[in-house]
Amino acid sequence: MAVLRFPDTDEMIESESGIRAALAGMGIDYERWSLDRVPPDSSADAVLTAYADEIVEMKRRGAYATADVVDVNPATPNLDAMLARFDKEHTHDEDEVRFILAGRGIFFLHINGRVASVEVGPGDMLRVPRGTTHWFTLCEDRRIRAIRWFQDTTGWTPHYTDSGVDKGYQPLCFGPVYLGARVESKLGSGLTA
Ligand SMILES: [Fe+2]
Repeated sequence: MAVLRFPDTDEMIESESGIRAALAGMGIDYERWSLDRVPPDSSADAVLTAYADEIVEMKRRGAYATADVVDVNPATPNLDAMLARFDKEHTHDEDEVRFILAGRGIFFLHINGRVASVEVGPGDMLRVPRGTTHWFTLCEDRRIRAIRWFQDTTGWTPHYTDSGVDKGYQPLCFGPVYLGARVESKLGSGLTA
């Protein structure tokens, strides 16, 4: 379950309906999806098969060409450098679509002059439209596993705004820390957020 905050006003929204409505007003899709399709330690291929219907439907919604599973944990090589690519305000030329299977992270969204932080966890689906100024970081356990959708993987590059806005916000995670069994996946690919 996600936690939505507006750090400038100390406003926090924790209900599913409240988060969905507030994010919808910002052009962001937020949904809760079932996690019981497949055991949490399943292979990436098993995850993609188990969520085949949702993957196809999401491809239709956003004209996404491909989907994969990203798996990041503290043992991921070059994790600090990987995270440093995405913890500064940036945009992409395509949507950023994530369904979180495990772990927690924070999307900071800078929309219409206001910053929102969306802490996402298992079962959360977030769809951030192309061009949205945002940045991302992991919570304390530095773990996330998610299904991602892509319109064109060659376009998946952060365009930095160099605004410095990201420096004014602490990446505070409020939700439950992931305490399930850690699975060191050999299927991990580069984190793109
Ligand atoms: Fe991003």
